[in-house]
Amino acid sequence: MAAIGKDLLLAKKLLDEGQVIGIPTETVYGLAGNALDQEAVVKIFEVKNRPSFDPLIVHIPSQDDLARYVTQVSEKMQLLINTFSPGPVSFLLQKKEIIPDIVSSGLPRVAIRIPAHPLFQALLSSLEYPLAAPSANPFGYISPTKAQHVDDQLGEKIPYILDGGPCQVGLESTIIGEENGEIVIYRKGGLAIELIEQYVGKVRVNEHSDSNPAAPGMLKSHYAPVSPIELYDASVVYTDKCGFLRFEHSLSNISTENQYILSKKGNISEAAKNLFEALRWLDQQKFDKIIIEFVPSSGLGLAINDRLTRALAPKV
Ligand code: TXA
Ligand code: MG
Repeated sequence: MAAIGKDLLLAKKLLDEGQVIGIPTETVYGLAGNALDQEAVVKIFEVKNRPSFDPLIVHIPSQDDLARYVTQVSEKMQLLINTFSPGPVSFLLQKKEIIPDIVSSGLPRVAIRIPAHPLFQALLSSLEYPLAAPSANPFGYISPTKAQHVDDQLGEKIPYILDGGPCQVGLESTIIGEENGEIVIYRKGGLAIELIEQYVGKVRVNEHSDSNPAAPGMLKSHYAPVSPIELYDASVVYTDKCGFLRFEHSLSNISTENQYILSKKGNISEAAKNLFEALRWLDQQKFDKIIIEFVPSSGLGLAINDRLTRALAPKV
């Protein structure tokens, strides 16, 4: 078990020593280390059991630091950064050499995020370097939205988890980049695409594998519970050993104890906030199967359905 607390000085001390710790953000909890220290970054990959071809997001406290890590930022990208940072969004920008290649998996662009979580902001501001941080889950599993989730799975491998309470957004950051002057969404996430389009017009959505960004269109299992998972089918009679993920309404013919309702008000942001907690809870109950339904596909619903689709993908 890791120590869990709100001690910013201890968090800073451990990071300064090159260690890797759990940190809160408004999207999901991250597993953070000094982004400029190769050895710390290697530790992140090891603790997470993550393949080295999957690049990491670099977190900075404010735009003031941007020019240290990236070269030219286009007008469109600058507009989006100004509008949506700090927040649940990451930007793919041409990296400078100071960012080690291992962080970007050898790619010329690095993902930069300015998070809005106050405790994480305070930590970042106290450091002399940015933090590389993937979501703090073992590779391929459900992302953590509480300090306890991090401890449950990675607690043996890290000394400390900075506790910033439950994540308010609950979905990873939306990843935005630009190709030939066109804005491209590389991962649907906590910032809704409709909001982005209000500023830059229609964007392209590039459905790449979350586990291999160089392989567009590949849908690998990710965000997946250990229990078998299937899509709800109204014509099937389910046993009492099945657990259900519901958006708004429970199923009247199934015990309420077997159901997790994401938002009784039918609120999509609330559903996003509860999604990963719900999948974890369903997994912990050791049901024979987890039966899920999609949510309405607009706003954050697109990102929720993306995670559910990946959770349904066959594990290879
Ligand atoms: O909300 C978040 O983004 C959280 C918190 C901790 O900030 N982080 C997160 O990181 O979700 P992670 O490592 O679980 O997912 C990052 C994904 C990678 O899997 C990859 O698909 C994409 O971001 N990515 C990062 N750098 C990239 C790059 N240089 N080019 C293309 N894709 C990149
Ligand atoms: Mg992740």
